[in-house]
Amino acid sequence: MGDRAARARHGRRSAGSTAVIRVGSMQEGDVPSIVGLEDPSLVHEDELRAELLRPWARLWVAREDDDAAAVAFLSTWHVADEIHVLNLVTRPERRRRGIARALLREAIAYAQRASAVRILLEVRRSNAPAIGLYRSLGFFAFGVRARYYRDHEDALEMMLVFGPTGEIERRPDEVCAAP
Ligand SMILES: CC(C)(COP(=O)(O)OP(=O)(O)OC[C@H]1O[C@@H](n2cnc3c(N)ncnc32)[C@H](O)[C@@H]1OP(=O)(O)O)[C@@H](O)C(=O)NCCC(=O)NCCS
Repeated sequence: MGDRAARARHGRRSAGSTAVIRVGSMQEGDVPSIVGLEDPSLVHEDELRAELLRPWARLWVAREDDDAAAVAFLSTWHVADEIHVLNLVTRPERRRRGIARALLREAIAYAQRASAVRILLEVRRSNAPAIGLYRSLGFFAFGVRARYYRDHEDALEMMLVFGPTGEIERRPDEVCAAP
């Protein structure tokens, strides 16, 4: 799907403003703004360019109003009937405006169109903002990967499951999510 067709417009909370969030497929020209979203050591330019070339990668960015620079991005892999979330980052000063949620909604809509059966991800057990976001969209915790990260923090494995007609199946946690 081309960028124009993949775009969605989402209203966002903002004091008295009707600014919109535009979500579209990531293009090569978005790489510099994505590298600058957060600590450059966390998002590498070479890795981003490599992702763009992988046929199974699905990458989205979000922009605000007419600002051309991406303020958030979401990278996923679509393998067989599963979508795996690899990275999701919103520029620190643009957080809590529904931008990451808009990106994930785009990925969920893509998964439904592609008849995927689930979306999977790992998240640091201490990452309450991200866990709260995933839960709000229907993800539940189903596993723990002990000492998964370089600093030995555990990863919580979360999943969003689609039913036979593509609806999101809300399920309770299968493991304790607390750190
Ligand atoms: C996690 C992250 C992507 C969320 O981005 P965001 O654009 O601020 O998220 P949204 O505004 O769409 O938040 C949607 C929901 O997530 C939850 N949430 C987000 N930030 C939160 C916070 N700081 N504290 C508690 N809940 C939070 C809330 O449920 C929120 O809904 P609400 O604002 O209506 O209460 C962002 O904090 C980030 O980039 N963190 C660093 C990278 C990271 O941890 N990525 C996840 C890797 S698995």
